[in-house]
Amino acid sequence: MSTHNRVEVLHGVNLDQLGRRDPAHYGSLTFEQLQYRIEEFGRELGLSLRFFQTNHEGEFVEHLHEIRDTADGIVLNPGAWTHYSYAIRDALELTELPAVEVHLSDVQAREAFRRHSVITDICVATVSGRGVDGYRDALNRLSEELQG
Ligand code: DQA
Repeated sequence: MSTHNRVEVLHGVNLDQLGRRDPAHYGSLTFEQLQYRIEEFGRELGLSLRFFQTNHEGEFVEHLHEIRDTADGIVLNPGAWTHYSYAIRDALELTELPAVEVHLSDVQAREAFRRHSVITDICVATVSGRGVDGYRDALNRLSEELQG
């Protein structure tokens, strides 16, 4: 197993409301069930995962400040912040860690404002529209990056 296996899985604003959000976009799993599935994906890949969710942008930024030395990589779904938070982009860049962006829904196929992400170009990959399985894809991609 790689020693570079510490992955932070970060969920942004409103992701804690999964299970109550539009199932056509986000499926029917609750946030707890989603985390459980991600934990399983991580185990399959030999990754050590830590989870964080907040609805407060500043807390998300501060968490990014703190993980620089305790994580090897990041999987993040910042929710709506994806589309406009330069503060989160700057903090993500500051970590200097490889990151994979994930969206449960197909952001390219929805409203125009969701088509733009302010973090895509600083992430090693983006996975969108694959639902829960998108997190497996993202962890896989990150795992390759950490071993490479
Ligand atoms: C989301 C897509 C965003 O546009 C939206 O604001 C979310 C969730 C997704 O996982 O599909 O909250 O990031």
